[in-house]
This record gives sequence, structure tokens and C-alpha cells, in this order.
Amino acid sequence: RRNVLKAGLGIAAYGTGLGAAIVSSRTANAANEIELEAVNAKALLDGQHLTDGVMTYRSLGEPDALMPPTLRVKRGEPFSAKLMNRLNEPTTIHWHGLRIENRMDGVPFLTQPYVYTGDSFDYRFAAPDAGTFWYHPHCNTLTQMGRGMTGMLIVEDPKDPQFDAEIALNLRDWRLGAKGEFIEQFKPRDAARNGTFGTVRGANWQVQPAYEAPSGGIVRLRLVASDVTRIYQLRLDGADADVIAIDGQPVPNRFRLETAVIGPGQRLDLAMRMPDVEGSVVSLLDTRPSTAKTVATFQAIGQSLKHRLEELPPLSANPWQEPDLKNAEQIPLILSATAEGGAKESFCGSLGYTFWAINRVPWPGDSVDPTAPLAELKLGKSYIFNLENLTPHIHPIHLHGMNFQVVASNMRQVPPLITDTYLAMPDEKVQLSLVADNPGDWVLHCHIIEHQKSGMTSYVRVT
Ligand code: C2O
Ligand code: CU
Repeated sequence: RRNVLKAGLGIAAYGTGLGAAIVSSRTANAANEIELEAVNAKALLDGQHLTDGVMTYRSLGEPDALMPPTLRVKRGEPFSAKLMNRLNEPTTIHWHGLRIENRMDGVPFLTQPYVYTGDSFDYRFAAPDAGTFWYHPHCNTLTQMGRGMTGMLIVEDPKDPQFDAEIALNLRDWRLGAKGEFIEQFKPRDAARNGTFGTVRGANWQVQPAYEAPSGGIVRLRLVASDVTRIYQLRLDGADADVIAIDGQPVPNRFRLETAVIGPGQRLDLAMRMPDVEGSVVSLLDTRPSTAKTVATFQAIGQSLKHRLEELPPLSANPWQEPDLKNAEQIPLILSATAEGGAKESFCGSLGYTFWAINRVPWPGDSVDPTAPLAELKLGKSYIFNLENLTPHIHPIHLHGMNFQVVASNMRQVPPLITDTYLAMPDEKVQLSLVADNPGDWVLHCHIIEHQKSGMTSYVRVT
């Protein structure tokens, strides 16, 4: 047993006074009833100018915070969040990666009505899985998420191993002009390709935030790619780290991080071993698309705790029902570009363009009367989705309410990971299996929001 690591408990992470959102390794503040206001705000996002028209979630408990609060809930325990809409447009909250009841899933028209200005909605659920998740609106999302509404949600489990510190990083960019003003969130030309990128890179609403962590300590780094477009290729310079969970789910055999690619919607949990020498600086780098950019830095402080990665016990697996692959029904899931152009009648912030399709059907915006489901699944039965990416672009494909297990890919050796967001490579064919264990209508879409909003969306119905 690692008694030594217990010494680090309580002191947790160390702030640098940069206004960073630091969370402790094991918090006492995991409230089970919160209120979140969706609000407009002004914030310093590029480090130089105050940006107007920011949209965020404000927790009544932290009225001065700008970044949406990092929520912490306990696995299996009832949790409620009252969303109060103080924006001047409708909104909702989707709890990305949480396998909860359909009516709590936050998709306007499919699972709940709009939450209009001045109205509220009570989200109530008990998170079934421990891990790193996040939340965001499902309504006019390119604008609402692009302007700030992406928050982290951490589900704790009493069985979680003890770390010397924990740092949660919400990775996202901003599309700002030279004076810090928001510029148009997308260009049709880019929406039809990889998506439109931000101009200012950030983590926890800062440019290259700096953190401190105990020398020789083991830090749990929880990363969320909450950007509307960017795919990250992450590596650490100056420290070893193990990949311990992907998309909230513990990896069966954790492995040493070299580079990890995560797309919009995905999460990565690392156990990072800080250097022994006080003052050493570790950098988290994004090496995509070309030159390495520093995302955040971590400085070793204090006398070395001399902890070793090998001492860290494994994360315990989340509950999971193995799909019955032999008897599973096969469902095609073909991602393609579509020739259909032009505006479609739609609601909830569709872009007015159609560039993409699932099974050749472009989703006509977040319609009040959605098209037929991609598939009708029988509760309790097993399915294999045969995903084929016929496009030359990467698509993070996200399913609400249930997780996929990766069976096999024609391009890479894939461990049997359980995930809610699969990053489909150009020309990749991959089999994703699941047991349809959650009744309701569940959206399935690309998490590059411009792709989602210009056709690459559908849903499955479980009855
Ligand atoms: Cu992260 Cu449909 O959502
Ligand atoms: Cu896509």
C-alpha cells in the first residue's frame, strides 16, 4: 500500500496566483445541489483585452468566477443542478458522457423543451460512472460553446486512488480579433473541411496557465478537449506520465504517455510524475498541426515526495455490460460529405449549410420534427455499429446516453476501450458495439460543432 502518498493529501494542488482554477485531490465541496446561471459576461481571454459577449455558467456558490465551474459529484449519489437562463436566447445543458435518463439529456426537441430566457430547468441524476466528464448547451452551440459555455464535471468515487495533487484543465480556444472582440465563429469553406479554428489558444480561460505541484509527486491531470473544432496531439515535456483513463473510462492496462490525440468532446486522464528537483518546469504541449505550442506548465515545488508512478494503484473499472458480439445486429454508420448545399429550415442555431451526412442523410438542423432515427434499437439487445469514414477528415463521433466499446479498426490496433466519443480517422472503418441499455432518443453526432450543425447528426431510438 502506498502510505507515502497519503502525506500529500489535503494540500492538493497549489495555485500560482494567476487566478487559475485549482482543485484539490479529494474535495469536500462536492455539493449535491447546485444552481447554474447561464449568463453573459466580459472576460480577459487573450490576456490583453476585455472581451464582450462572453457566455458562461455562473455557480451561485462562486459568483466571481468567469469560467464555468468544475463540478464535482459523487458516483451513484443523487445530484441536482438548476439551470437558470439569463441569456437572451434559449439554452439547455447536456451532460457529456453521463449515462443518465433521457429526459435529463438536454437536447431540445428530442429530450426536453427549450429553456427560454428567464426560465429554469432542474436536471437531476446520479452519475453511474466515475471519471472526467463535461457539460455544455445543446442549442445554438457554435455560438454558446464558442463563447464560453463548456464546463468540466468530475465524478468521484471513494475507491479512487489518492494523488498528491489534481489539476483539471479545460482546453479550448477563442475566435477573437485583434482587439479581443469575437469574430465570426465559422467560415463555410472551413465548415466543409476541418472546421474553423480559434485564434487564441487557451486552457482554463488563460493563455498558457502556470501551475505548481509537489516535486516528486504524482499529479492527476484531467484534460477535456471542449473546443468546438480543435483536435489536440498532446505530450509532456519534462515529466513521465501514464495514461490512466480515456473519455472518463479507466484504461484496462495503463501505459506511458508518448503523444495522445484527443478531439472535441474527448477527455484524457494522466498520472504525471513531477520532477524531483524543485523549480523544474514541465510543459504540456500540443504538437498538432505542426509546431509544438505550450498549453500549460507545471512547476515542481517543495522537497521531493519521491513517489513513483509504479506505486499508483489502478483506477477501478466502471460498471459495464459486455455486448454479445456473436448475436449482435449490425448497423451501418456511414460518414460522408454531401453535395446538398444551401440553407435548410432549422432551429437552434443551424448554420444554414449542409455539408455532411450520416448514412447519406444530412440532419436538417435541430429540427422540431426530426427526421427518422438512424436505427431503432431494442432495449437489452446488443448492436455493432459499422462506422465508415468516407471523408478525408477526422470526426469525433459522439453518442449520448450510452457508451460504445471499440471492437476492431482497419487502421489501428485498438484496445477494447469504452467510450462515448470515437475519433474516426479519414478512411477508417471501425466496429463499435454496445448493449442498448438506456431507453430513449439519443443523439449521435460529430463533435466538431460545424460538422454537427451542417448535417453530421442523427439519433438512435431505444425502446
Ligand atoms: Cu458533447 Cu451532443 O454533445
Ligand atoms: Cu466531423
